[in-house]
Amino acid sequence: MLDRGMGCSHGKIILMGEHSVVYGYSAIALPLLGIEAICRIQPASQVLTFDFEDSLSTAIFAALSSLNQLEAKISFKVASKVPQKRGMGSSAAVSIAAIRAVYAYFEESLSEETLEQLVHQAEKIAHSNPSGLDAKTCLSDTPIKFSRDTGFDRLEVALDAYLVIADSGIQGHTREAVNKVARFEETNRPHLVTLGRLAEQAEAAIQLHQSREVGRLMNLAHKELMAIGVSLPFVDELVQEARVAGALGAKMSGGGLGGCVIALAANLEDARVIREKLFEKGAQQIWIEKV
Ligand code: MEV
Repeated sequence: MLDRGMGCSHGKIILMGEHSVVYGYSAIALPLLGIEAICRIQPASQVLTFDFEDSLSTAIFAALSSLNQLEAKISFKVASKVPQKRGMGSSAAVSIAAIRAVYAYFEESLSEETLEQLVHQAEKIAHSNPSGLDAKTCLSDTPIKFSRDTGFDRLEVALDAYLVIADSGIQGHTREAVNKVARFEETNRPHLVTLGRLAEQAEAAIQLHQSREVGRLMNLAHKELMAIGVSLPFVDELVQEARVAGALGAKMSGGGLGGCVIALAANLEDARVIREKLFEKGAQQIWIEKV
């Protein structure tokens, strides 16, 4: 056992296919390697108590329990740049960092498979019925195409464009949004099918480096996400503002009912103009990623 254990991970953003991915359709997501979450474990005078309504606490419990170390006297600290409840993978990133930190502390090797199983336990608290997309993207260093049934493939994204990621400042509610979609599954099914199809088309457009087409598909996806009731009026306003400011396309991203908007810009200059307009409109934090 070391006198310290540390684990890291990073955030993510979903380009296409949120919600429909829960129903087996494919999705495309990008890791945000520069937006990190770090967890540190150190010795303490008491054993931990756990809150099973909290995904981080559940992740630590799952990791300690898998190592038969529930009686270990430790404490943990998390430093995360991934904003919470914004559809940027905060719960998955923090859980991955924590599980890695626990294993590092006990000098145990951690397979990708075990890590995914443990994260899944924690993500069930955050998401109720997690597809596994968030965890997989927070574990990946490249964009991925993901399907619940067939797993994931690395995806080369070279659109020579920029993704503007804007935090609406409104906390998202993934768990509630996933449950809301499930409650009206029958009515929502055609929209979920379309969202899945749009993600497939976006993959084809990405492979052909057609950024304009990806933007068009993002616009269509946002319409479907509105139809299943996971967007909010202010999020729709930000999406509209990004389009008026010159985005090739824009949509909400992640679980929704708040959270982030993403807009595709043809070049860095356009991305900066979109950023400016979204800040003026009330976005809280904005990141620009080359895609
Ligand atoms: C949440 O980031 C993405 C959802 O599709 C849920 C999931 O995939 O588990 C809404």
